Amino acid sequence: MGASFTTVGWHQGRVRLIDQRQLPDKVVYLDCADYRDVAEAIRNLSVRGAPAIGITAAMGLALGAQSLAGRDPSRFQEDLTRIADELAATRPTAVNLFWALDRMKRVASSHRHLGVDVLIRQLVDESQAILDEDIAMNRAMGAIGATFIESGDTVLTHCNAGALATGGYGTALGVIRAAWEDGKKIRVIADETRPVLQGARLTAWELMQDAIPVTLITDNMAGALMRAGKIQRCIVGADRIAANGDVANKIGTYSVAVLAHHHAIPFYVAAPTSTLDLSIPSGAHIPIEARNPREVTHIRDVAHVAPEGVAVDNPAFDVTPADLITAIITEKGAFRPRDIHRLGGDPASLTAYRLA
Ligand code: MRU
Repeated sequence: MGASFTTVGWHQGRVRLIDQRQLPDKVVYLDCADYRDVAEAIRNLSVRGAPAIGITAAMGLALGAQSLAGRDPSRFQEDLTRIADELAATRPTAVNLFWALDRMKRVASSHRHLGVDVLIRQLVDESQAILDEDIAMNRAMGAIGATFIESGDTVLTHCNAGALATGGYGTALGVIRAAWEDGKKIRVIADETRPVLQGARLTAWELMQDAIPVTLITDNMAGALMRAGKIQRCIVGADRIAANGDVANKIGTYSVAVLAHHHAIPFYVAAPTSTLDLSIPSGAHIPIEARNPREVTHIRDVAHVAPEGVAVDNPAFDVTPADLITAIITEKGAFRPRDIHRLGGDPASLTAYRLA
């Protein structure tokens, strides 16, 4: 099952993005020829979702490198770092952004002896490798995660952790896709995900493209559906996972996890290892992005739904503590959250801790 759209990729020397602000009304692509356009696309949510942000930033840095052709090698490294810093300043929470930029900078500094022209080519290739590897990780995660889903299940998801949030296939929606491809008769409940409506606009649209049965609810309906026995599992993506298994994800994820715990419903997180931040001990260290109050006072920037001048709080993410999470599904296996730090160690020692 391949998506009928491309989230992000190289197209005729430019970085092509599906403009997610316009979905589901219009399928429009943005072609970025300058790294500043890429930075703006990340900032304004034309492209969003942790892995997709990382891939896009990597491609943006490769575009930036192309604009430095002809520089002497040490100026090239300096200017590349400056461009990477600009791209890194676009959004603070998803660690995939910093992970991808660090990986690109490592390529540039470890091959500095090869000369600027060769380096530019290598940076373009590396950004493509980050995209290709992301899709492969999603497919591996899908196969592992599908084993936790049974035919007949109704699965709730929050925000959009699908092909639109990644290089393709998706993390949480990748698991759902894999279960569906295995022939399991499942249904999806998509939380609308206020304020930006990633669930209503993106998840519902993406699943309908693949004819996977999806029902849309407002965020405040999940508890009643759980109590009525209408939800068997929850699965979400992640923007950053700390060493103790705490997970930052779209605002509202924590509420879903508390509700799932109360109703004894398994709550899974699906994320590639590029979303791990083992340098921080717990979720308390994850920077939470505060976004424009207009996202709350308006719907889709047009319908005003609050009194002029009202005070607004708009944190874009929350942290779900590890003890509310049944398992974290990665491309290397599924793990209890408390064991996730082991992914930073010897791969051979992982076997004992894998759930699937
Ligand atoms: O603000 P967004 O739309 O970038 O937030 C996206 C999320 O929180 C996703 O759930 C997360 O990035 C996982 S994507 C595979």
